Amino acid sequence: MPLQDTAPLRVLRLICSPRGSDSESYRLSQQIFDRLANQAGERGLELTDLDLNDLPHVDHDYAAALASPVEPEHTHPGSALHRSDVLIRQLDAADVLLIATPMHNYTVPSALKTWIDHIVRIRVTFIGTPQGKQGILRDRPVHVAIASGGLISGENARQPDFLRPYLTAALGTVGLHDLHYFAVEGTARGEAALEAAREQARTAVEAFFMAGA
Ligand SMILES: Cc1cc2nc3c(=O)[nH]c(=O)nc-3n(C[C@H](O)[C@H](O)[C@H](O)COP(=O)(O)O)c2cc1C
Repeated sequence: MPLQDTAPLRVLRLICSPRGSDSESYRLSQQIFDRLANQAGERGLELTDLDLNDLPHVDHDYAAALASPVEPEHTHPGSALHRSDVLIRQLDAADVLLIATPMHNYTVPSALKTWIDHIVRIRVTFIGTPQGKQGILRDRPVHVAIASGGLISGENARQPDFLRPYLTAALGTVGLHDLHYFAVEGTARGEAALEAAREQARTAVEAFFMAGA
């Protein structure tokens, strides 16, 4: 049997809420993680948690390198380019990407946007073609656990959802297209509504993994 079929399934989880493991998005991601563990069976899982809240923004040299027609020969430890190399290697090593994210102002929180700025990189994770940007990374499942204070889907939603279309476009740029969204919606609508939203999200996770079993 090839090594990749027996080695543990490598899951990279991005923790994007400033509330970390106290957050609703983290809680939902944990349910997804448990289903992945079930699915992996004896193969097992290897989880890497990456809290994005301390990730610095990209810097001057990073912006200059992306604007240049050639890659810099060296990246210095501590620079954004070096950090980008490390984050891209970490993403590329994962079999499954699990994103735990709140909605902030109709879209992804700035911590997740900063990570995206580091991993969407011309010549490294995508190339420009006359037809548009073409992703270089191998596709793999991406599960996204969203928490939002208000509703973001259905006829009672009263706000735009730029989070899902944006994330789909950004990850698609690097070649990740196998995205699955789960959401706890309306966390700010009181305890009863929150419990109902958690239950709805839990049922959606169960149904998804039952269907794929
Ligand atoms: C800066 C900020 C912006 C927010 N913007 C939105 C928003 O646009 N739409 C919404 O439904 N909820 C919004 N919320 C509420 C959060 O999405 C909600 O509290 C969610 O449950 C947080 O998820 P977490 O527990 O995973 O951090 C915002 C919260 C913060 C802190």
